[in-house]
Amino acid sequence: MGKRITDKVTWVGKVDWELTTFHGEELSTHRGSSYNSYLIRDKKTVLIDTCWLPYDKEFVSNLKKEIDLSKIDYIVMNHNEIDHSGALVELMREIPDTPIYCTAKGESIIRGHYHKDWNFVNVKTGDTLSLGDTSLTFIEATMLHWPDTMFTYMSGENILFSNDGFGQHYASESLFNDECDTAEVYYEAEKYYCNILNPFSPMAIKKIKEILALNLPLDMICPSHGIVWRENPAQIVEKYLQWADAYQENQVTLVYDTMWQSTRLMAQAIAEGIRKVSPDTTIKLLHAGKEDKNDILTEIFKSKAFLIGSPTINNGFSFAIAGLLEMIKGLKFKKKKASAFGSYGWSGDAVKQINEHLQKAGIEVVNEGIRKLWVPDENMLAECVTFGEEFAKAL
Ligand code: FEO
Repeated sequence: MGKRITDKVTWVGKVDWELTTFHGEELSTHRGSSYNSYLIRDKKTVLIDTCWLPYDKEFVSNLKKEIDLSKIDYIVMNHNEIDHSGALVELMREIPDTPIYCTAKGESIIRGHYHKDWNFVNVKTGDTLSLGDTSLTFIEATMLHWPDTMFTYMSGENILFSNDGFGQHYASESLFNDECDTAEVYYEAEKYYCNILNPFSPMAIKKIKEILALNLPLDMICPSHGIVWRENPAQIVEKYLQWADAYQENQVTLVYDTMWQSTRLMAQAIAEGIRKVSPDTTIKLLHAGKEDKNDILTEIFKSKAFLIGSPTINNGFSFAIAGLLEMIKGLKFKKKKASAFGSYGWSGDAVKQINEHLQKAGIEVVNEGIRKLWVPDENMLAECVTFGEEFAKAL
């Protein structure tokens, strides 16, 4: 059912408590998610975004309880990935002539997804739509995170409908940030930024500065996932500016896979060396095969440096490490230092190959890494401690 945001704006989305992965299996969503849709009732009535395809009938059925669908004058589609446009077919079956406001790229994506010849109205930055006492202004936000993305600002209520921007995969029956566990919301917002938006950080900084320069009053940010930023909405904008600017904390993360515990022993010894040199640094050790990949990436995002460890297997590195290296490349982390380590039995290719992958991913590799034959003995582990010390000194 709908939830009141202001007298004129009602949340009409879907809270998905069951969601455990998003983008297929690419992104873990330990705390579920929501697909936020908003109904604006002024002299004109507007629906902003819909919901994910599996919930299309539920969405339209609930929307009918909120409003006679024929009273909807306009639909605004800020972004047309299927988690937001998925209910359009079901909705447009009922109101086929209702104009859909979206960017030109948005129209082509909707056409590509649903193959329907609906009444599209293309908008670009600065275009407005008067609703009576209030009005909407459209702001293209290309590649944040799709080519079609735009934000919609509602004058009068001072609300920014930001779609994926400032969102979190976070299911909550409460709608507002001031009613939720702040630490949970921020963890999910940061994980979301790292895993979805980080590759587009230069665009994020540019777009946020462009919007801030408009000096628009801002009472709320209503994203398309998770909670509404009602209490001090500028806080998440400021956080985005930090996250988008080669974010790092005083943290070093060691991510490793291990077959017979030798690479794990090396990880522990390297961590000991880092701690000796930098006792104030947060050091985390994460088993790549056991920990969630997106949580690992979020820890790397927070780190000023990281190490990747793998035993050599089949003249290369492990399956779990391979997936992470590919994701590290795609997420385009900036200004991070790294190196590699691992045990081996004969060919010992993994360390060199990992470093090569890190370099290709734009990471500064600080040394050639360290590898140890078979099970490391005390002397070998002492060398790993020294390696950790040298690594820490290079940061
Ligand atoms: Fe939430 Fe890019 O869709």
